[in-house]
Amino acid sequence: MSLMGILDRVGDATSVDKVVDPARKAVLAVLRPPAVKDFLHGTWLGHPLHPVLVQVPVGSWISAGVLDLVPAMRPAATMLIGTGVATALPAALAGAADWSDQEAGVRRLGAVHAGLNTAALALYVGSLAARGRRRGGLGRFLSYCGLGLAGTSAAIGGHMSYAQASGASHSATAAQALTHDWLDLGPLDDLPEGRPALRTGTGGGVAVPLAVVRRGARVDVFVGNCAHLSGPLYEGDVEEVRGSACLVCPWHGSAFDLDSGEPRHGPAATPQEKLEVRMEAGRVMARLPARHA
Ligand code: FES
Repeated sequence: MSLMGILDRVGDATSVDKVVDPARKAVLAVLRPPAVKDFLHGTWLGHPLHPVLVQVPVGSWISAGVLDLVPAMRPAATMLIGTGVATALPAALAGAADWSDQEAGVRRLGAVHAGLNTAALALYVGSLAARGRRRGGLGRFLSYCGLGLAGTSAAIGGHMSYAQASGASHSATAAQALTHDWLDLGPLDDLPEGRPALRTGTGGGVAVPLAVVRRGARVDVFVGNCAHLSGPLYEGDVEEVRGSACLVCPWHGSAFDLDSGEPRHGPAATPQEKLEVRMEAGRVMARLPARHA
């Protein structure tokens, strides 16, 4: 079995839920204020915050590992290890916020990712303590062990992102199946006012759900699969969120600005794919923006 096959087995192991579920409840309790959770998701940034923040501890620790090979550079290595330790907590909090809103298989693997990161952090703290007591050999041994664990954990995080699509925009993936031609979505007068309607786009023989919202003469058309985890946006609601009229996902409450598609409330951190719209003889026509061509 391949290494990635082993990781998939972990994702299937329901027995670990008796540990994972209480941990998730604790994370949700600590991160209860919506503004805190949105900040940690990266909703304000339009990009998941966790992969941005992890650059600092991972980069610092890798660099320290290189500098430790040169005796004259070891004080600088110690400084970088301290930088990594100091920045690990915000990176972990952002990861925990994302993890708490993922599906069960990703949460199981994420628990392993978090456990390895915690062990790596403990080794680096031990390394700093050893270096402070002038036990440099032990300090370097502990930090290289920490680097090994952090690297293994990063590989698992990559599997969660790439193989399990835990940080990907699911609306961007769905958009790839759409044609680049104009789609006829039917008469404007058939659309309900102020709530989403389901229409179907096509491309390559595949039907793609679209969420169409009419406000008077204005129509906004989105890919129907929510950017977060593919929830049915066409079954959502139109609500005012943080001063903007938004389309709100029925699954986890992500709110997307009707005008821009940008997230105003998480857990989604990326914009919802939005189509260009024009009217033609009273009919709504929509197509993907040119960046998808
Ligand atoms: S699928 Fe999670 S908020 Fe839409």
